[in-house]
Amino acid sequence: MKALPFDKSVYINRRTALKQAGLSGIALFPANPEAAFNYPANTYHYRQDSHFSYFFGLNMPGLAGWIDFDSGEEILFGNDVDIDDIIWMGPQPAMTELGASAGIGQTQPYDKLEAFVNKARSQGRKIHFLPPYRAKVMMHLGQLLDIPAHEVRNSASVELIKAVVSLKEIKDELEIKEIEKAVDIAWLMHTTAMKMAKPGIIEQEIAGTIEGIALSLAGPVSFPVILSVDGQTLHNHNHHNTLSLGRMLVIDAGCELASLYSSDITRTVPVGGKFDTRQREIYEIVLKAETESIAAMKPGMEYREAHFLAARIIASGLKDLGLMKGDVDEAVAAGAHTLFFPHGLGHMLGMDVHDMEGLGENYVGYDEHTHRAKEFGTAYLRMGKKLRPGHVLTNEPGIYFIPALIDKFRAEGKFEAFVNYNKVETYKDFGGIRIEDDVLVTPDGHRILGKPIPKTVAEVEATCAQTREWIRVPGVF
Ligand code: GLY
Ligand code: MN
Repeated sequence: MKALPFDKSVYINRRTALKQAGLSGIALFPANPEAAFNYPANTYHYRQDSHFSYFFGLNMPGLAGWIDFDSGEEILFGNDVDIDDIIWMGPQPAMTELGASAGIGQTQPYDKLEAFVNKARSQGRKIHFLPPYRAKVMMHLGQLLDIPAHEVRNSASVELIKAVVSLKEIKDELEIKEIEKAVDIAWLMHTTAMKMAKPGIIEQEIAGTIEGIALSLAGPVSFPVILSVDGQTLHNHNHHNTLSLGRMLVIDAGCELASLYSSDITRTVPVGGKFDTRQREIYEIVLKAETESIAAMKPGMEYREAHFLAARIIASGLKDLGLMKGDVDEAVAAGAHTLFFPHGLGHMLGMDVHDMEGLGENYVGYDEHTHRAKEFGTAYLRMGKKLRPGHVLTNEPGIYFIPALIDKFRAEGKFEAFVNYNKVETYKDFGGIRIEDDVLVTPDGHRILGKPIPKTVAEVEATCAQTREWIRVPGVF
């Protein structure tokens, strides 16, 4: 049997901590089912639910975890395989072995779950569950709990969400090591992409190669690779462009491990490996925004302060280049920087690349002291609250020249006091630049996780100067 990512004591301790969170009733954690790709038996790569994996570790469908907060009882629901399963999947461990591997003494056949749920409900006991994000799970919970499927998400337990967030947001040594391994694999993905970023190469060739590195060394990529010379489109999943001199290539990619911990790294490189003056000028501003907002990270600092520090560095740098004008603080207070930096500085990272986002971003990144902005751009900041030791976050500022946004703001007469639109027009062919690292908040500051990935102009140029031997299939490209 494939071992769980961690020793069973890890899962026992996590469930014990959850039981000490002060809830009563029962927590029900359904494992993720298989998901059909193009017909029912042809499924996507199986991905366990991160919360199920956090508390139970098992990486397979057909299971549900049950934690009784009042009695302390823990049950794993699932079925032993039959001969048909063995023919197609090979011998599989018995449910009792699976339960024991996660430190759970009691297992029950899956079809007993309904009776357990009905009994608890007839006793007036609350069944807590997290908001499901897959239709099959919504329908399953709706049927079990007598809730219309479309209302299941809204019926999720806020108490359980808060308890899970407060456990999972603080990463321990074991988790940090896993994230570092995922960053180390991202180092190979990114340095390989840099060596391939030559004129004439098609984006897909690089995207496929680095996805293959993730698959060959760990799990799959932690989100669909973003790799494009049209980096002004923030999440560009099209990979059809041919690289040409004068373009910047944005590479935003990471991987996940068998333990599901992930990395999320962005680098931007000039095609051909040498920055021209205009590229270097914009790059240095983004690099300064990234390194200085990381340098400021420490416990007690609200992450929205780091976001606005990056925004001021961007506005000030763009002012020096004549693209912005006026008072930098006033420009940022007015939101003028969002023409160039229309997203948030970062988000929590863990077993989900946007960690726990499915539970509701505001439960993860905000609290009773910090509230999410409603204004354009800043509203995308997923993490605004105070940093604490054990938080792992991405830090990923960027500068983008988005022609449609430039045209829109200009037509609306927006930020005319702070934006030099005539000069900005001349950058409409620039694309975008984003730089992203994964950062741990430590008791006295912060630490960038993993093997350092080339980032300064000199480091990027030195890596891009190398060549990765690349064999093309004749006649394909
Ligand atoms: N790397 C993709 C994202 O952070 O949204
Ligand atoms: Mn990110």
